[in-house]
Amino acid sequence: MEPVTESESERGLIEKARRVLPGGTFGNFPSDVVIREGRGGRVWDEGGREYVDFLLGSGPMLVGHAHPDVTAAVQQRIAQGTTFFANNRWGIELAEAIVEAVPCAEQVRFVSTGSEADLYAMRAARAFRKRDKILKFEGGYHGMSDYSLMSLAPRRPSNFPQPIPDSAGIPRSVREEVLVAPFNDIEAAAAMVREHQDELAGVIVEPFQRIIPPMPGFLEGLRKITRQNGIPLIFDEVVTGFRFAYGGAQEYYGVLPDLCTLGKVIGGGFPLAAIAGRTDIMAHFDRDRAGEDGFLMQVGTLSGNPVAAAAGLATLEILRRPGAYDRLFTTGRELMGSLAGQLKHNGVTAQVTGEPPLFDVVFTSDPVRDYRGTLRGDGEMLRRFNALLRERGVLKGESKYYVSLAHTPEDIRHTCEAWASALEALATA
Ligand SMILES: Cc1ncc(COP(=O)(O)O)c(C=O)c1O
Repeated sequence: MEPVTESESERGLIEKARRVLPGGTFGNFPSDVVIREGRGGRVWDEGGREYVDFLLGSGPMLVGHAHPDVTAAVQQRIAQGTTFFANNRWGIELAEAIVEAVPCAEQVRFVSTGSEADLYAMRAARAFRKRDKILKFEGGYHGMSDYSLMSLAPRRPSNFPQPIPDSAGIPRSVREEVLVAPFNDIEAAAAMVREHQDELAGVIVEPFQRIIPPMPGFLEGLRKITRQNGIPLIFDEVVTGFRFAYGGAQEYYGVLPDLCTLGKVIGGGFPLAAIAGRTDIMAHFDRDRAGEDGFLMQVGTLSGNPVAAAAGLATLEILRRPGAYDRLFTTGRELMGSLAGQLKHNGVTAQVTGEPPLFDVVFTSDPVRDYRGTLRGDGEMLRRFNALLRERGVLKGESKYYVSLAHTPEDIRHTCEAWASALEALATA
């Protein structure tokens, strides 16, 4: 019998996935990509193709795939049992590391995903304020709960942002409980906070929304108006936590929220996320302190899982090493600069938007400052560009380049060459 070739084996897997998974996928990424292996800043697919990886598992692999120190920590833990439900040393120590690192974090509650962290952070704000409504921003992503899936990506936005469900299966009533404001428009957000002060439980925001940095004064203004009205401000730092700085976006932009959510990096590639914040709000997770009426029930089989916590602790230890963030930002700046330069050189109308650890291009002539700004971008052109890059050995998400500490000068060079060649192909298509 002929040996099965890599491409036959890959084709077989893709066909199998199409049979047993709805849409042929886990819901995350196109079904024609099946990743076999990752090391440092690169991954290999089942067909044997090698990529410089800017997907980074959708962000967790900030220090690179299969980092030897993370692998060693995980292997040691696995050999001694993988989950206990009860407290364990590694979860406790990771909570302490988060309290020491993240400015708003006085206490921490672990969950398994960013979606859960966000839904419990909003619930904690509701328990604390004894009000129901949450204000979020159009285009802001806070996971998959009913509350969060309001106006993440409205296709036909109305004149002013409205709560529009992003998914089937969301109860109509949830719409009544969510207010939606435009990102980076502090006057509009402040007016909504003032108008709804008496019904608002909290304001949740990605301090860096998708790939859009906050304009000067926006986060500061949100902080001021929420504080004046006694409304908890929640930073969703699932993406930015330990990425923009060791203390996250709240350290990087210098604005202190009341609560934040963390995920991705803190689990070092394993399922782990957290809600962290002010002790008086976190007290709602404690029946003894909150009392029966104020108690927020929260239990999860794998919360604080010791393997994930050990991976997270090893990851944070790598990030604390001298020069780690300098290196990450230097790599990101070089990539952003090169991409912007090449687009300009080729006469392509585009904006490179983001911060060095996380950015992308939007094919538009206008600076991008909110969700509607990204909608003005040429989405079809972005899809073609991404596909051309994939053919040239660069893997990325639909609209994000996640930069890794493990990306090497050779990875940068390869990426810059892929951009040059893909832009040429884009021009001749
Ligand atoms: C800002 C933000 N919040 C929440 C989430 C949800 O996290 P998870 O996918 O772990 O549920 C994500 C995921 O990408 C995110 O980007």
